[in-house]
Amino acid sequence: MTGGNDAETDFGADAGGPARHVPVMLHEVLDALALRSGSRIVDGTFGAGGYSAAILASGARVLAIDRDPTAIEGGARLVAESGGALVLARGNFAQLDRIAAENAFTQADGVVLDIGVSSMQLDEAERGFSFRKDGPLDMRMGDTGPSAADVVNRAQQNDLIRIIGILGEERQASRVARAIVARREVKPFERTLDLAGVVASAVGKRPGDRIHPATRTFQGLRIFVNGELDELAIGLSAAERLLCEGGRLVVVTFHSLEDRIVKRFFAERTGGQGGSRHLPQSREAEPSFRLEKKGAIAASEAEAQANPRARSAKLRYALRTAAPAAPEHLAAFGLPNLVPLSSFATIAGARHA
Ligand SMILES: C[S@@+](CC[C@H](N)C(=O)[O-])C[C@H]1O[C@@H](n2cnc3c(N)ncnc32)[C@H](O)[C@@H]1O
Repeated sequence: MTGGNDAETDFGADAGGPARHVPVMLHEVLDALALRSGSRIVDGTFGAGGYSAAILASGARVLAIDRDPTAIEGGARLVAESGGALVLARGNFAQLDRIAAENAFTQADGVVLDIGVSSMQLDEAERGFSFRKDGPLDMRMGDTGPSAADVVNRAQQNDLIRIIGILGEERQASRVARAIVARREVKPFERTLDLAGVVASAVGKRPGDRIHPATRTFQGLRIFVNGELDELAIGLSAAERLLCEGGRLVVVTFHSLEDRIVKRFFAERTGGQGGSRHLPQSREAEPSFRLEKKGAIAASEAEAQANPRARSAKLRYALRTAAPAAPEHLAAFGLPNLVPLSSFATIAGARHA
């Protein structure tokens, strides 16, 4: 069973009006954080501020981070209303310990990460995430680095097969990549619907398919363009360095590629089975985390009914021990070996000047 495709439903982006991001597994997140008045919590994926607002309501102080300038602008009101309890910083959660230090958040009692795109990002055609709404082929959560158009128009066919096959979990990745390369020789891709149409013709409609034929290809490109797996792996180590003894690391993921990274990290750091044999923490090293609950927590039946996105959500959490943080060792996570993102020159330029 592979993870859910979080673009599967477009989060109701077809529903007419602008999408409102409904926080996923909010009650479970709050339980796992075990908040007390005065707790210092880092929300590494602010989004629409659903988690941050609920955490603030418990009397905690929050440092919230998002790489998306639009999310930061949208949070201005919550910052103003918080009376100094919420600090909102633009940045990447892979650097959350550095961002925390810059904001005098020297230790944290909790770190929460809610991985993936927000409804607002999917809903706004100009962001280029949606295969249902026409927009520039961008897909960047931030405003720097190569866009999806850079990748689609410049990647070698074999690299496209790996990006779409591994990150998109698309079984017909070879057909899709061949169709993309053939088409771009005639005319480069610039728009989302143009790409979605070419992918849909290559994949065809399979009997019983409930998702749009371009779902997996778009997911693979989005994860690649935003370096999502690498940043998750780096972010977990950054959280480990920042959390104080007893502090809680809570992570919500939406597909198996991400969940595997979290699972491996916790297995290794708790000294349990199932971690990578390549991870450097030796059996003798004292575990830097302990599990209160083994395994992943799923959304309740009622939430899964009400919010299709919650169906593929998995929450894992662990408590920091007093042991020193283990060294960061990215290669040990078994991350897919793909062409470096930095090898694509940016042709689209910055979205926000
Ligand atoms: C699923 S939404 C979070 C929703 C949020 N929990 C809420 O309740 O509104 C994910 C957010 O994380 C941000 N994001 C994704 N990867 C990030 C990263 N590496 N660093 C910082 N923000 C990131 C995205 O821009 C997006 O706004």
